Amino acid sequence: MNPTSKRASESTAILSHFLLPEDANPAGNIHGGVIVKHIDSAAGVAAFRHARCNVVTASIDRLDFIRPAFVGNLLTLKAGVNLAGRTSMEVGVKMWSEDRSSGERRHVSSAYLTFVSLDPATGTPCPVPPVIAETDDEKRRYRAAEARRAARKRRAEGED
Ligand SMILES: CC(C)(COP(=O)(O)OP(=O)(O)OC[C@H]1O[C@@H](n2cnc3c(N)ncnc32)[C@H](O)[C@@H]1OP(=O)(O)O)[C@@H](O)C(=O)NCCC(=O)NCCS
Repeated sequence: MNPTSKRASESTAILSHFLLPEDANPAGNIHGGVIVKHIDSAAGVAAFRHARCNVVTASIDRLDFIRPAFVGNLLTLKAGVNLAGRTSMEVGVKMWSEDRSSGERRHVSSAYLTFVSLDPATGTPCPVPPVIAETDDEKRRYRAAEARRAARKRRAEGED
């Protein structure tokens, strides 16, 4: 095992928030931008735990709003580093809303984000540890993240 590698489970972040009236439109639906902010924050915690230095969001690949969330719901986000490149990390986030009375949980949104680790002295991208995927789910996410990283590179090269 590479001594600098880190287990995927070491960076997992789980965050919860109550959704407030200022997060919503007049009908009580939570704004998409509020959901994006919570996703970015949860993903940032996971990326920071993996890199243990300043990280910035480089891109959000895809973000699906699957079901609405409403004022008063408890929102829970689970974020984890799926794959590390040299200086970047792909983070997957899943978000659920929970009804306060019934406890019923609904899948609200999922997203993949890329974070880049920055050297504290120079502010330029710096290396991150490889990810060790141990469970079947972590291995599946790792393989899927490799395919997305390759697709991202192809897209970036096509744009040059
Ligand atoms: C993200 C950023 C640091 C990348 O800088 P850069 O000079 O383009 O870096 P490089 O070309 O050396 O690439 C560094 C890594 O980032 C990845 N990367 C760069 N741009 C990317 C993008 N748009 N999407 C996904 N990955 C990206 C590269 O693939 C590379 O990964 P690797 O080292 O794992 O192979 C720079 O674009 C930046 O500072 N952007 C603004 C970030 C920001 O303000 N975010 C919002 C607030 S946190």
